Amino acid sequence: MKTLIAYSTTLGCTEQCASKLKDDLLDDVDMVRISRRRKYNLQQYDTIIVGGSIHEGMIQRAVYKFCETSLEILLQKQVGLFVCCMDPDVDEHALINQAFPDELIKHALASGFFGGELNIKKMNLLQKIMTRKAARLQKEPDIDFQKILEFASKIQNLGSVSRMNGPIVHM
Ligand SMILES: Cc1cc2nc3c(=O)[nH]c(=O)nc-3n(C[C@H](O)[C@H](O)[C@H](O)COP(=O)(O)O)c2cc1C
Repeated sequence: MKTLIAYSTTLGCTEQCASKLKDDLLDDVDMVRISRRRKYNLQQYDTIIVGGSIHEGMIQRAVYKFCETSLEILLQKQVGLFVCCMDPDVDEHALINQAFPDELIKHALASGFFGGELNIKKMNLLQKIMTRKAARLQKEPDIDFQKILEFASKIQNLGSVSRMNGPIVHM
């Protein structure tokens, strides 16, 4: 079984979560940073996990675009979706709904919110100013490693069930 984790990261947190997820999955896992210029060979994977982080209320544009342009092939694969962000009061369901296309969310075996981390050392001046303004983002680093582990187990368990039963039919 081959898995791809395709992610975008602005300050490194999502990459850290993708690495942890890679360690937690028992499959043969590749990681790729989403970039507009990159061509992907998605056909070779059984499972594709897509992740990104929230900045000013939005997931990276490249992540949404990747989902849109690869939608047809993603719908033939086992899919997982995740986001990183810092708002402690975030509505996880609304967050996922806003970050990914509806059809992909319905198709996904698992979707998750892994918390976030403010990597101040990597920020430019504008990002520092914006972070200071958003007082709600001022809190201790909080990647939820337990959630990443649970997400990995869910992908693996549901993935093996769907392989035994054939393609999942979403009603
Ligand atoms: C300029 C800036 C804006 C942000 N805006 C939001 C936001 O609107 N909502 C939120 O929950 N987190 C926000 N965050 C927090 C990031 O989502 C969080 O730090 C995340 O872990 C970053 O992941 P990354 O390092 O992979 O980019 C913001 C962070 C920065 C630096």
